[in-house]
Amino acid sequence: MAEKKIIPARRTENVRYAIRDIVVLAGEVAKTGKEMLYLNIGDPNVYDWHTPSHIIEATYKAMLANYNGYSPSSGVAAAVKAIENEAHKKGINNVLDIFITTGGSEAIELCLNALVNEGDNFLMPTPGYPLYTAVESKLEAVPNPYYLDEKTWQPDLDDIKSKINPRTKAIVLINPNNPTGSVCKKETLLEIVKVAKENDLVIMADEIYDKMIFDGAEMVSIGALDKDVSCVTFGGLSKNYIVPGWRMGWGIVSGRQNVMADYIEAINKMLRARLCANHPEQYGVIEALTGSQEHIPAMNQTLQKRRDITLDIVKGIEGIDVVKPEGAFYAYASIDVDDDTKFCQELIKETGVVVVPGSGFGKRNGNYFRYVILPNEKILDKAFNKIAEFYGKYKK
Ligand SMILES: Cc1ncc(COP(=O)(O)O)c(C=O)c1O
Repeated sequence: MAEKKIIPARRTENVRYAIRDIVVLAGEVAKTGKEMLYLNIGDPNVYDWHTPSHIIEATYKAMLANYNGYSPSSGVAAAVKAIENEAHKKGINNVLDIFITTGGSEAIELCLNALVNEGDNFLMPTPGYPLYTAVESKLEAVPNPYYLDEKTWQPDLDDIKSKINPRTKAIVLINPNNPTGSVCKKETLLEIVKVAKENDLVIMADEIYDKMIFDGAEMVSIGALDKDVSCVTFGGLSKNYIVPGWRMGWGIVSGRQNVMADYIEAINKMLRARLCANHPEQYGVIEALTGSQEHIPAMNQTLQKRRDITLDIVKGIEGIDVVKPEGAFYAYASIDVDDDTKFCQELIKETGVVVVPGSGFGKRNGNYFRYVILPNEKILDKAFNKIAEFYGKYKK
């Protein structure tokens, strides 16, 4: 009998996630016995970062207390309350709904699912985190990138305005940004609020890195700037509290009740259909948000120091430039080459240094790579000296 192939759905065709794709090549090179220096992973626990123990203890206690069944679909009431207090601390006072999800990722996907029809579009920061474009493909939505200014990585307002059309449903804002580490200026955010209100767009405010801020930069939550703007603010424990494997995230809906009511019900229908997020870890959310925050300034100080080590070396490499990151744990280096994917592949094979090609985050012009500032000083120093040496030979 002839073998007939199972044909995957069309919606998977354009799903890309360069951050993990590059790992396949790195794995092959590692097998040859080469020393690998991983600057590609947005996971602090892979490096020398540890979860604050009081958060682990709270989760462990919840497990022992047998909070191991399903939780309510929107989350445990006390954890939702802790997130509401957090929203107030961020200045978001017109909260309409809060729900806890399997990482910020699930909240993002669920909120886009509940809003965007096939053929619609949402404005996507470019460069930006590729989960959004993967969801866009799944929804058979039409890509609608807006660009960040390459000199500052602030959203380009004229570009945003020129890209809005009758099928535009939302604008995504990643602040602080992955992959650039940029933090949005308040005046830019105020303009985005204005545009969103004028065009009835929902702002999808991804603030998953909101506590990782350097040099005293000001982190402003866009949802706090206007009580009437329709906004979902995404947050989570993964990065700020060093537990990405727990998969604890949330969404905070704010704006006007009458405008948002149907959308909120649509989100909640989808929340109910997937039962709930991890249950015992929600007790970790309560402890994380209400307990000691001591690790946060210490973490930021270390990250800042590690960032500066890389910037000092980069300064000495002709043809590589980095806009100084003010938050998160990434930096986005521009390189004078023809094809950043090829560059990153060759870099891995030649030196064992693993970074992510800029094309994985979408881009307008130029070539880039993203690196994390999470590894310790010794690894960063070694990796960047190898990059410098390799780049000197590779450059066009
Ligand atoms: C900008 C951004 N949003 C969301 C996420 C997903 O985070 P979570 O672990 O909460 O799903 C990430 C993870 O890297 C991210 O960089």
